[in-house]
Amino acid sequence: MKVYRKEGDTLEIVAFPGESVYKGEYLLVMDEEKSVGLIVQVVDFEYVDVPGLIEEVIREGLIRLSTYDGSVEYDRVSILINDLKILKCKIRSAYKGGRAVNFVDDLPSRAYSKIVRLSADRLFEIIGKDVKYPVLIGSDLLGNSMVIDAYELDGSLTLITGMKGSGKSHLAKLLAYSLVSLGGNVLIFDLNREYLGLESEGFRVLEPGEDIVFSIEYLGKDTVVNVMTKILDLPHVSSNILAELWDSIMRREGRFNSGIVARYLDASVKNLMVKDAILSRLNILENCRFIDPRGGFRLEGLFKDSRGYIVNLRDLSGVERRILVEIFLSKISRLLEARRLPPLFLFAEEAHLYIRETYWEDIVTRMRHFGLFPVFITNQPDSLDQTIFRQLDNIFVFRFLNDKDLETLSKVSNVDADSVKLVVKDLGRGSCLVLGRVVSDFPLVVRVRDVGFEAMGRTRRMFS
Ligand SMILES: Nc1ncnc2c1ncn2[C@@H]1O[C@H](COP(=O)(O)OP(=O)(O)OP(=O)(O)O)[C@@H](O)[C@H]1O
Ligand SMILES: [Mg+2]
Repeated sequence: MKVYRKEGDTLEIVAFPGESVYKGEYLLVMDEEKSVGLIVQVVDFEYVDVPGLIEEVIREGLIRLSTYDGSVEYDRVSILINDLKILKCKIRSAYKGGRAVNFVDDLPSRAYSKIVRLSADRLFEIIGKDVKYPVLIGSDLLGNSMVIDAYELDGSLTLITGMKGSGKSHLAKLLAYSLVSLGGNVLIFDLNREYLGLESEGFRVLEPGEDIVFSIEYLGKDTVVNVMTKILDLPHVSSNILAELWDSIMRREGRFNSGIVARYLDASVKNLMVKDAILSRLNILENCRFIDPRGGFRLEGLFKDSRGYIVNLRDLSGVERRILVEIFLSKISRLLEARRLPPLFLFAEEAHLYIRETYWEDIVTRMRHFGLFPVFITNQPDSLDQTIFRQLDNIFVFRFLNDKDLETLSKVSNVDADSVKLVVKDLGRGSCLVLGRVVSDFPLVVRVRDVGFEAMGRTRRMFS
């Protein structure tokens, strides 16, 4: 390989036949004489456009067509030129004294520079990254193992995205499993019963209605009022009445159910619409399979008997699902705030289907502060709130073909959109581009490794 030219932050390198390089790979362009270098990432390939080459190409083609009988000696050089490639590389950093530096005041020589391929390990070494909590995530483009630091996922907001079937859930399982192995706490909202394979790795599956049964009294006033207003659209006037009733009912009766509430409403409220509004919604809540007066499930007990929990959301109706998630988030945020729960990672697949919109901001700002670290997984990045995009710390992008989805990703801060687009379009299944803190803002392609445990969640098909 040889340096060809530099334009802005793009370096073009000529690769000779036989020098194969992958899109997304890192190269170190090193001038040993001057002891300066550049760390660049290959983001695209092109054929070389040499003046006169088209003529050569046509000439060869014509010779091949008309006279080729296996004996003609082609001009070797013109065949080689035909196969030359220009590597379009983004300059990611300068290099001096064995380390990545922000700036060098000279360019490496075009004539004498050596160009070497960098493994992820070597790159991390050069940028001075030491891994404290290693997660073996897969291999880099050169086929060497790639380890990321769970420490960089801690306290952060992470997104796993990519088109259908590209390998998102597979990576999510690997990360959840690795975080728990390292002593982290993980809660998974499992929409498709596809994380159950983690049960064999010590995760506990929580089935709504069996393991998860709450009493309304346990939920408490704030959570019940939240569910009634935010999920079941109880108008404000009615919700104020309900909140007032809650206190007096609990003081006098010690229990809270629609029967008692009906009695109190009869005695104190004339407006039939208000009564009906409150009672109909209370009935919906009481009819959820995970609500029962004898229910004794307490979120305070989470992470006492396991570090990983899977909440199975699949068999719930849409309303039940949203109510259950509201209860979990509302209770958990209070418990985290009161330091009655340890910090936790929350894995949520297609979260827009069950987390109400007004929660996004709360989750990514306030709740993060108290120790709730979300990992969102989606094949529709534009389904997520804009607040999330501005605050993402880590992104794992699998293959996308659709320009609209790629466009959404370019709104993420710290991402140089053009090169991300170029690399992501060519990823194979199970490979992703990692962006953000976890790679110190050096976008890296990783081939996610297979997991040892049984991976559930294959899409069912008619023909096997
Ligand atoms: N790195 C990998 N190694 C081995 N198998 C993989 C890998 N990544 C994905 N697979 C397999 O490919 C299939 C699709 O992967 P996965 O379910 O993770 O895709 P997805 O992006 O979550 O798809 P969807 O959008 O439909 O949820 C699964 O059968 C999974 O086991
Ligand atoms: Mg999936």
